[in-house]
Amino acid sequence: MISSGVPLRFTIHICTRPANLRHIAGVAALLLIALTTPSSSRAENGYDAWLRYAPLAKAAALQYQSLPKIVSVRTPSPVLQSAQEELIRGIQKMLGETLHIGPDRPDTPSILLGVVDAGDPRLSSAAGLRDDAFWLKSVKIRGQLSTLITGSTDRGVLYGVFAFLSKIARGEPIDKLDEVQQPYAPIRWVNQWDNLDGSIERGYAGRSIFFDNGSVRADLTRVRDYARLLASVGINGCAINNVNANPRALEDDFLPQLVRVADVFRAWGIRLTIAVDLSSPKLIGGLDSFDPLDPRVQDWWLNRVAQIYKQIPDFGGFVVKADSEGRLGPSTYHRTPADAANVIARALKPHGGIVFYRAFVYNHHLDWRDPKNDRAKAAYDNFHPLDGQFDDNVIIQIKHGPIDFQAREPASPLFSGLEKTNEAIELQITQEYTGQQRHLCFLAPMWKQVLDFDMHAGEDGTPVRDLVAGKAFHRPLGGFVGIVNAGLDTNWLAHPLAMANLYGFGRLAWNPDSSPEAIAEEWTRLTFGNDPLVVRTIVNMQLASWPAYESYTGPLGAQTLTDILGSHYGPGIESSEENGWGQWHRADKEGVGMDRTLATGTGFAGQYRSPVARIYESLASAPDELLLFFHHVSYTYVLHSGKTVIQHIYDSHYEGAAHVDEFVRQWKSLKQHVDNERYADVIARLEYQAGHAIVWRDAICNYFLRESGITDSKGRAGHFPNRIEAEAMQLQGYVPVDVTPWENASGGKAIECSGPQGCSASFRFNRDSGRYSLDVVYFDQKNGESKFSVFVGDKLVDRWVANDQLPATKIGADSSTRRQIDGLELHPGEQIRIEGIPDRDEHAALDYVELRPE
Ligand code: GCU
Repeated sequence: MISSGVPLRFTIHICTRPANLRHIAGVAALLLIALTTPSSSRAENGYDAWLRYAPLAKAAALQYQSLPKIVSVRTPSPVLQSAQEELIRGIQKMLGETLHIGPDRPDTPSILLGVVDAGDPRLSSAAGLRDDAFWLKSVKIRGQLSTLITGSTDRGVLYGVFAFLSKIARGEPIDKLDEVQQPYAPIRWVNQWDNLDGSIERGYAGRSIFFDNGSVRADLTRVRDYARLLASVGINGCAINNVNANPRALEDDFLPQLVRVADVFRAWGIRLTIAVDLSSPKLIGGLDSFDPLDPRVQDWWLNRVAQIYKQIPDFGGFVVKADSEGRLGPSTYHRTPADAANVIARALKPHGGIVFYRAFVYNHHLDWRDPKNDRAKAAYDNFHPLDGQFDDNVIIQIKHGPIDFQAREPASPLFSGLEKTNEAIELQITQEYTGQQRHLCFLAPMWKQVLDFDMHAGEDGTPVRDLVAGKAFHRPLGGFVGIVNAGLDTNWLAHPLAMANLYGFGRLAWNPDSSPEAIAEEWTRLTFGNDPLVVRTIVNMQLASWPAYESYTGPLGAQTLTDILGSHYGPGIESSEENGWGQWHRADKEGVGMDRTLATGTGFAGQYRSPVARIYESLASAPDELLLFFHHVSYTYVLHSGKTVIQHIYDSHYEGAAHVDEFVRQWKSLKQHVDNERYADVIARLEYQAGHAIVWRDAICNYFLRESGITDSKGRAGHFPNRIEAEAMQLQGYVPVDVTPWENASGGKAIECSGPQGCSASFRFNRDSGRYSLDVVYFDQKNGESKFSVFVGDKLVDRWVANDQLPATKIGADSSTRRQIDGLELHPGEQIRIEGIPDRDEHAALDYVELRPE
């Protein structure tokens, strides 16, 4: 669905004609803006994300009265044109003021946009700026305020404009500006895992904005608006197709389509990149080999790259996933990743292109019976020995942890395993293992912990941020890559609060010293406005959300205990075990955790530099939150917190699930303070999340209760006094079924209805008279739309259709959903009846109900 709020097409041209003509062009442009600017009252559907430019309240707008009314551009270019249009649009929408495009005259107060220019005294003093830095400077011209927005590159100026507008949106003063901002690293890129057919691997917000049905989309409006969003947080490159790359993206007749995307990106300073299949010379090149050391293969890459640059002169380069998860790679010919990367890099080098070679290289057929095997070791084992062998325009793209974007992982040891090789950190914005945008999970605090983690690779401290930015070992390239997977959903990432992750990624890539608190606050002000209650509440919710998610999903570094063989969504504890994928946590009757020590385990801990290795190696010093990543311990092992492992599992899961209930309450306090549309969307998601957090909590607590045989000292795990199992009700038509794995449904069982006429399940209320809320836990699959009705006696009290699109085609934790019916007046002896009518492959299945006094 494309939003009705799609911003306008501006057709202003910055021109260098004489002043009178320029003036006419400017007036025409302004007329166009005036006619086409949408009114501020349009719906808040999230399309504009943090670039809403909501009109400021009168009092807040007062401080900007002295803002110059003229904008002038020193040296026109497509990026500066975007900057100018953005400035006009932002000021118009926030302050209702129309900026005129004026002549660049030193004696006229204006907002001047321009790159550092030694010949211009106003712009020359910024000569020290490097990379994409910018400088915001207030000056007085003839007693009136002027503002210089200057940068070392066009991009820098554009970033300066966005920063300037952000200040106004957040109510900050702009009359005494003298602020330089310099990006931390040259690489601030994003990847999309979009397939050419329009689907997105691990995308949770609709289909691709880039592709449909094998081609680039005809309408690239969304691409332009995405590029604008990316640019607004300093992102300067984007790979648009899945790392599991379709070789078609490199074919001759596909190139004109890529050209169209590059043209759209260019105006926002975004370089286009594509992911490539390393076996392309064979698959589409007509060769019988893709051996990187075969001269014919080398020629093939040279020619392919030359063709691309003929039409896309600012093309960014290639992302390579090879020898990983079934993708072919240099190992086919007993060559190394360096052999492969360099061949492509040499083709790209003369044109300024880069190879992002992913370190996500591992064997997914590991023998799980061998206690020395360990997938976590793969990246370091594969790449550390090659340090120094990669060309200077190769970057090793390293996932932040050694496994795969789990709710908690240590920083990858490879960050300190490369001194003579460029590297970039890969962070996942799309919430593959962190709730898939159905759960609130603000990831900036997690990323920040990794970025700040000192890998002890040098004498003065080498946090991950300095290693990846190339600062620690003076590398020419390096930085940050985020996997976004934004889609056609109007608000880009489905959950209205999830865009904080894209914003947070951009802000951390620009300046990893920023605090998650500050980032959350900025994002909230820009996205929801400056109402203090709104800001405080949303910031608190965002900051609490990752710890909450972690505590009801993956305990003590045992990873997200999800279904790793399927959806990566709900609990699936044993799916990690007894297979070659290597996401093992080794839970058994005695204990849990993966022994990764040098002394007795896989030796993974030894991949870190010594102070870090020592901390992880020792049970005494390993931090609680990563204990089970490094050690196998008994359930009665006592943590630094003073709790046993098993009691921690119970407590954290109950606390985490309770925290989501708190989010529901917190969000409800904002009902009168945020727009209805986003209010309703968020509350529905949070209520769903609160139910699903209980599914997680119960699955994990019940599983470990059975494994360990040790009871919860607080008596909660396995005891559900308010619960009535569906299989224990009076059933008409419904039949009990076993759920696999057992822990993913209450009591291991559910009831299903197969007759098209429907079934019912009923029970007698036998508690004291009073007001109760009734939770009905049912299964909502995506392959049917069952109908449910609930009656008290003969009175219908609720009905609904199970029509969500959860990632599930069968009953289990992925489809388990809670319906809450509040305010029921109940009396002893009354019958409560649930009727279900199945649809297609969905059998109106029920798990249990829970009655809570209100
Ligand atoms: C994960 C993810 C895959 C993806 C892979 C990668 O394993 O589930 O879908 O292709 O990461 O990063 O290459």
